[in-house]
Amino acid sequence: MQTVKVDLADRSYTVYIDSGVLGNTHPAFSITPASTVLIVSNETVAPLYLDTLTKSLAGTDVHSLILPDGEAYKTIKHWSHIIDKLVGIRATRDATVITLGGGVIGDMGGFAAASYMRGIDFIQIPTTLLSQVDASVGGKTGFNHPSGKNLIGAFHQPTAVLVDIETLETLAAREFSAGLAEVVKIAAIRDAEFLDWLESHSAAVMAREPEAIAGMIKRSIANKADVVAEDERESGVRALLNFGHSFGHALETLTGYTQYLHGEAVSIGMMVAGRLSELRGFCEPGFSDRLGKLLQSFDLPLDLPAKLDPADILETMKLDKKVIAGTARLILVKSAGRGFIDSSSEKPQIVAAIKASQAKS
Ligand SMILES: NC(=O)c1ccc[n+]([C@@H]2O[C@H](COP(=O)([O-])OP(=O)(O)OC[C@H]3O[C@@H](n4cnc5c(N)ncnc54)[C@H](O)[C@@H]3O)[C@@H](O)[C@H]2O)c1
Ligand SMILES: [Zn+2]
Repeated sequence: MQTVKVDLADRSYTVYIDSGVLGNTHPAFSITPASTVLIVSNETVAPLYLDTLTKSLAGTDVHSLILPDGEAYKTIKHWSHIIDKLVGIRATRDATVITLGGGVIGDMGGFAAASYMRGIDFIQIPTTLLSQVDASVGGKTGFNHPSGKNLIGAFHQPTAVLVDIETLETLAAREFSAGLAEVVKIAAIRDAEFLDWLESHSAAVMAREPEAIAGMIKRSIANKADVVAEDERESGVRALLNFGHSFGHALETLTGYTQYLHGEAVSIGMMVAGRLSELRGFCEPGFSDRLGKLLQSFDLPLDLPAKLDPADILETMKLDKKVIAGTARLILVKSAGRGFIDSSSEKPQIVAAIKASQAKS
């Protein structure tokens, strides 16, 4: 079993990474026998893993709640279902919520744990690559409001995170690739050696070889844990984690959240940010080509749609004012593994990077 400690004073916790651990979880977890546990999962993941997890929790008072699957259900209504269930099973302050699923379940179940009786314990069992490498560290929990994603939420650190890499065997190829975008992101902004490793191991990663996957997940989590330990509340260095995300979010918004998975939009967004970094002379020529080759080897898209108007992207990013130097905060790279916050890019430069990233139709 590999572990990563997320160092946050009295909110510190450990991420356990192993294969097949769902079946015998406990040494890792500090659930007191006889305390109440609510497992929150969804219709896709529960049939695959809920039984195994429930069996391994024998001896505790285990309950489960299965929610519908999808981002569309990350709402106040489904958060409130979780709360109703906690009330229904008479959960007290020593109860634990275990989330079993991707980021949607983790975020919503985590927020239910954050808000029930002003905060109860929560253990996260992320089952998508994206939630294992990204949502498992940082303590962000919450749900969507019709007018904005993740508009309601709280920071609530889990008491432990269990990553069972065997769960990735059932994950759709497209979801797996989307998770890889966040892996590339963390390497690109702070770990040049890891970026090299990803390039030389891309075939093993795509074949989901357990050893390669476990190592990759551990390194991604360790990198994110360092960033979060430095800046738990996102007031400084944590912004670097948004590499590719400003452009990516704009693309998701402009396409109504239907065309791209988050990781796919981030992949394209990183290409725009990489090109801008090069165009501004911050990083060596060829960096964005290198990034593109790696993302492509992970079956991720690189190009913005040809028909998107750069002006719409800027507007969505709220960068449509005439003079934006000094106000636009973009995450760019100085070299592989060295991201930084740039606020000196001018509108024409950003437009040039956008145009250079559009598919030639
Ligand atoms: N809290 C954070 O720091 C953080 C970080 C990144 C993303 N998020 C949030 O996470 C969400 C995205 O997470 P996601 O990409 O995991 O999406 P998701 O939770 O919707 O999961 C993607 C799909 O995979 C299915 N699935 C999950 N595990 C599976 C498995 N092992 N086998 C087969 N199918 C499986 C799910 O049911 C779903 O259909 C967003 O709501 C985002 O806001 C949060
Ligand atoms: Zn992301």
